[in-house]
Amino acid sequence: MASNLIGDPHQGGRVCPYQMAFMLDNWVRRWLQNPTKLVGDYIQPGDTAVDVGCGPGFFTIDMAKLVGASGQVIAVDLQADMLGRVRKKAHRHGVADRIVYHQCRANGIGLECQANFILAFYMVHETPDPQFFFTEIQSMLAPGGKLLVVEPKLHVSRSSFRAMVAKAVDAGLKRVGSPSDKGGRAVLLAGD
Ligand SMILES: C[S@@+](CC[C@H](N)C(=O)[O-])C[C@H]1O[C@@H](n2cnc3c(N)ncnc32)[C@H](O)[C@@H]1O
Repeated sequence: MASNLIGDPHQGGRVCPYQMAFMLDNWVRRWLQNPTKLVGDYIQPGDTAVDVGCGPGFFTIDMAKLVGASGQVIAVDLQADMLGRVRKKAHRHGVADRIVYHQCRANGIGLECQANFILAFYMVHETPDPQFFFTEIQSMLAPGGKLLVVEPKLHVSRSSFRAMVAKAVDAGLKRVGSPSDKGGRAVLLAGD
């Protein structure tokens, strides 16, 4: 249903199409942005972690290795083709049994969970209503759970990012860090 969202009226054509997946998942990016180094500090064995806007799973697989056999990763995307790529990759890496897949809609994640960690990497600027997005995320976090948002400097100006963080705070999230080594404009937020 959601494989050709370029030009979708609900998105204004802003969604990175699955045809560009190779740009998001390759050895050059892995060399520049090692996923385990970027998110490893936030994930413990046994955790429930969510990769929202997971794309082709560049982070999802490393997250599945970090949560271990007793943990779970929920891979969320609105494009079925992106989730299909994650599924194939998970089988190749032997972590398929730790990942569940959730195809959401552009205007709502629609997922109930108690996540210890949620990653939103290079995706919030693609959502049609960031305020609603953050409200949903807040409801998905377990007590003490964290959300890491990273946005690309090329597409998101400093002032736009500041406005985005303000929406997250309005939605009830607390700013607990501003990491400078995550490959973009980044903020760490906590739920209640
Ligand atoms: C630029 S890609 C980044 C993918 C991945 N996070 C990464 O860093 O490799 C953005 C992804 O977010 C997804 N996306 C965009 N809007 C979304 C929404 N409202 N809910 C869930 N996923 C969304 C797109 O389908 C796309 O796969």
